[in-house]
Amino acid sequence: MLNTSDGYLETPNLQPINELFGVYVHWPFCAAKCPYCDFNSHVAKDKIDEQRFLKAYKSEIFHWANQIHQKSELKKITSIFFGGGTPSLMSPALVEGVLKELETTFGFAETIEISLEANPQSVDALKFKDLKQVGVNRLSIGVQSFNDQDLKTLGRLHDVSQAKQAIEIAQNHFDRFSFDLIYGRPKQTLAEWEAELKEAISHGTTHLSLYQLTIEPNTPYKKLYDAGKLIMPSEELAVDFYELTQELCESKGLHQYEVSNHAIKGEEARHNLLYWRYGDFLGLGPGAHGRVTIGEKRLATCTAKIPTKWLKAVEVTNYGQIGGAMECEEISKETQAIEMVLMGMRLKTGISSIELLDRTGHQIHSATIEQLQNDGLLKENIRGQNTFQLVPTAKGTQLLNYMAGQLVEGLIEASER
Ligand SMILES: C[S@@+](CC[C@H](N)C(=O)[O-])C[C@H]1O[C@@H](n2cnc3c(N)ncnc32)[C@H](O)[C@@H]1O
Ligand code: SF4
Repeated sequence: MLNTSDGYLETPNLQPINELFGVYVHWPFCAAKCPYCDFNSHVAKDKIDEQRFLKAYKSEIFHWANQIHQKSELKKITSIFFGGGTPSLMSPALVEGVLKELETTFGFAETIEISLEANPQSVDALKFKDLKQVGVNRLSIGVQSFNDQDLKTLGRLHDVSQAKQAIEIAQNHFDRFSFDLIYGRPKQTLAEWEAELKEAISHGTTHLSLYQLTIEPNTPYKKLYDAGKLIMPSEELAVDFYELTQELCESKGLHQYEVSNHAIKGEEARHNLLYWRYGDFLGLGPGAHGRVTIGEKRLATCTAKIPTKWLKAVEVTNYGQIGGAMECEEISKETQAIEMVLMGMRLKTGISSIELLDRTGHQIHSATIEQLQNDGLLKENIRGQNTFQLVPTAKGTQLLNYMAGQLVEGLIEASER
């Protein structure tokens, strides 16, 4: 635990950000495409050549290790996240291959967190034990709903009984697991959501990701919505859904630590905290984003989204010359400050003014802070001389886009003050 007087957050598991180094591995395939989802996920037409993927992931790992090593010491990895798509469709042997390569190349911190997103279909749940054996130590299961009819409408391939089985199997094999639910679904009532959330909490998980349904562009749900065929909750009802979610979770000790994430103290997802604290992580696989510091430069990286294009981009240079990175851009201090504010204000603990200044050379104009305080969107917790924590209020978290947007507008270079 860090001491609060140095300007960092008083939250368990938080090490100084420069000691952390994460890796995101994207698996871009799903058994079926859910109509609400706009993640980079595809239904494979042919059998997937896992060996080819392993070789490509290895190539990217080699590339980044090489790039970083030219300017500085390699850091040990503190967290890895296999996301998707549906990474529980990967064979445990492929997951193991990627993990071995990462461990040999960078080394693993003793307390490394290795998470994997899993779908609850029985075929995926059968793999949980093997995934544990190859090194995964935290599972995030996409339950989405405890209502069979709604699971069908959401286009899910599992039913409630499979979801419960998957939770039980995860519980038997993993000390740490979480599951995702989507609420504010078409025609869902508050009472139905209350019953569902109570059911979710009764499974004894120490972490829950609870997402309000968003209508994403270019999805079948968007078409239905535009045609008036999806009746979404009114704005008032959406607020009631959100507030009920916070109350119920809080009453059971599942604290909201980020807009959509709740955990028992100490069980926060460390890898995701790394994103929100704006730390360094490699993004491997199709469409993966990364933020990497090489020498004095901080880079934003992004790879080709289409799996075959990504494979070809990695392979074209005979494995390992350029990696799959299609775009790799140095981020200015100003952009870093913007990104740090946008990510950090998602956290209930907000951001530290001194950390913002140290890392980006920027601070937020006092008039902006005052205005947001007067509007009841921001608390400013004094942590010591010239050091304070910018903490969103409950209302600030609900109006996150507006509040964070105002903070971004109020950013100034330290010398301008
Ligand atoms: C990459 S996806 C999940 C992984 C896994 N393939 C699954 O579906 O179970 C991450 C999570 O985002 C959430 N999600 C995806 N699209 C959403 C949307 N349009 N609105 C709200 N939540 C969404 C779902 O809860 C999902 O579990
Ligand atoms: S929600 Fe999950 S399973 Fe459904 S398409 Fe998106 S990534 Fe795939």
